[in-house]
Formats: sequence, structure tokens, C-alpha cells
Amino acid sequence: MNPLRSLILAAAGNDAVRRAVATAPVSREVVRRFVAGETVASALDVTGDLVENGLRVTLDYLGEDTTDRGLAERTVQSYLTLLDQLHDTGLAVDAEVSVKLSAVGQSLDERLALDNASRICAAAEQGGTTVTLDMEDHTTTDSTLRVLAELHRSWPSTGAVLQAYLRRTLDDCRALAGSRVRLCKGAYAEPASVAHTDPHEVDLNYVRCANVLLSGSGYPMFATHDPRLIEIVAERARWHDKAPEDFEYQMLYGVRPSEQARLTAEGHVVRVYVPFGEQWYGYLMRRLAERPANVAFFLRSLAGR
Ligand code: FDA
Repeated sequence: MNPLRSLILAAAGNDAVRRAVATAPVSREVVRRFVAGETVASALDVTGDLVENGLRVTLDYLGEDTTDRGLAERTVQSYLTLLDQLHDTGLAVDAEVSVKLSAVGQSLDERLALDNASRICAAAEQGGTTVTLDMEDHTTTDSTLRVLAELHRSWPSTGAVLQAYLRRTLDDCRALAGSRVRLCKGAYAEPASVAHTDPHEVDLNYVRCANVLLSGSGYPMFATHDPRLIEIVAERARWHDKAPEDFEYQMLYGVRPSEQARLTAEGHVVRVYVPFGEQWYGYLMRRLAERPANVAFFLRSLAGR
């Protein structure tokens, strides 16, 4: 992994850096590029605008690695409120939610995370929409897939995320090719024992995994901003005789919005991942780590320029 990326991901776990960034007066401006505000109301505003422009949305209430049951419960309540309002505003047709199990208690007790995720899935079903379980670092993959298997018993439309950088992922794609699966490269600092560290190897694995998902009976969701992978996915989808509504592209809020618009205009389904909430720090650091230009943008803002 490139040293700058490792450094930023290490800073993501450092409390002193976290405090410095969170209290810097200009941080909020930088955060606004990638995060749709701190409240449900601001998230719904952003969602409404995206939907008006023909995009679909998946909403993420920010938070991760919760070791406090009270905070896990507040996260669940925020999702329940959000889902209610998505239903009431009619946005649930085009907007679903993404959930990190570590935000609803996974590190305390897998059973608690399952119960909490079940409550969110039940509310999503009632509101007319779906849930996708985000995938976190590799130490949580088995647990997340176990919870997913349980959720599939009652809510088979629950989506999974698989990360192309993990060596295990091709097998996981084969196992889940009949489900809704978001394929991404992977955003965490992972050791070479479990993950491809050469970006070219990650891309090759992404294409192998895309082929498996496109040849399955499920609904693949290709989460990438990489122009080459977007092109290859379109080409492979044609080989596999997939119509535009048989799969979707996904991108992050604030990243390559013109590409999101271009793909939509071409008739593709494009879903934007929209994070919101007060706990934006870990999310922001992963976005900065992905692209040196974002770090420059961030540092210029911190310096007030
Ligand atoms: P790559 O990082 O190679 O970028 C390709 C090009 O895209 C860059 O050259 C640049 O032009 C542009 N770009 C990419 N990131 C950018 C950024 N932050 N700012 C500006 N430009 C950028 N990961 C994970 O581990 N678990 C998960 O659950 C998810 N969920 C998820 C959902 C969705 C909808 C997306 C799009 C991504 C995720 N990810 C994720 C993150 C994912 O694993 C990955 O870290 C990022 O998408 C960046 O990888 P790319 O495929 O875009 O390629």
C-alpha cells in the first residue's frame, strides 16, 4: 500500500489527530464535500436533489466501532427515523440504507448486531425499501457474512458488500452470486496475508469477481469510480446479456458527480452512497486516503486557503 495512504489510515485511528481535525474550524467545509450534513433532514434534502436528477441513493448514518450499547441503540433509532421519513416523503422508492454492523454492536456481541440489523431490515421492508450491509476490515468479514445469512432467511433482498482486495472474495462472490452484492475494491489497510496489495492485482480480481456476479442470478452493484473498471463492467454486462436494469453502478457522494450524470444519461442505473451524521471522521479519512488530491484539498482548507 502506498505510504501516504497507510499514514492517513493510521491517523484515522489516532485520537489526537481525530480531536485536531474535528475541532479545526474549517473541517466542516471540507466534510460537506463528502458528507450530506449531520441531520436526517439534511440527508433527505440531498437525497431529494439526487433523485430529481435521476440517481438512486443509499444512505449511511455515520458511525463505526461502537463499544457502547447506548450508542448502538441510538444508531438503530436514527435508522428507524430515517426509514420512516423515506417512506413518508416517497423517497423510499429510490433510496435504501447502508448499515455498518460495527455501528450497531458487532464488536460487543454478534447477536446484538443481528438483532439490531433485523430491526432495521424490518423497518426497511415496511417502508418499501432495502438494506445493504457495508463490509469493514477483514477481521469482521466472517461475522458479517454470518449475520447476512441469518438476515437472508427473513429479508432475502438484504445486500452484501464484497471487497476485491481480499484474497477470499472470489469464493465469496461464488457463494453470493444469487443475491444483491455490492462489489468494491476495499477501503481498509489490510495485510498482504489476506489482501492483494498491488493495485493491478486488485483490479484483476475485481474483474474476475464482476464476471462471477454477472453470470449469477442475483443483482450486482458495481461500486467504483475507476473509469477502466466502469468500462469493463459495461462490456462484460453485454457479454452476459444483462439489461441496464439487471445491475447498477454505485459511487460515493461528492466523487465524480459528472460521471454519475453521464452514466445515468446513458440509461444505466447509478446509486450514490450518501453518508450523514456527526461521526464523519473515520469516513472522511478513508476518502482522503484514496486520493492524494483530496489530501491537498483538505490541507489547503485547514490552512484557510
Ligand atoms: P480507485 O481508488 O482506484 O479510484 C479510481 C479513480 O476514481 C481515481 O483515480 C479518482 O479519479 C476517482 N476517485 C476514487 N476515490 C476518490 C475520492 N475519494 N475522491 C475523489 N476521487 C476519487 N469499501 C469498503 O471497504 N467497504 C464498503 O462497504 C464500501 N462501500 C462502498 C460503497 C460505495 C457506493 C462505493 C463507491 C465505495 C465503497 N467502498 C467500500 C470504498 C471502496 O472500497 C474504495 O475504497 C473506493 O470506492 C475507491 O475505489 P475505486 O474503485 O473508486 O478506485
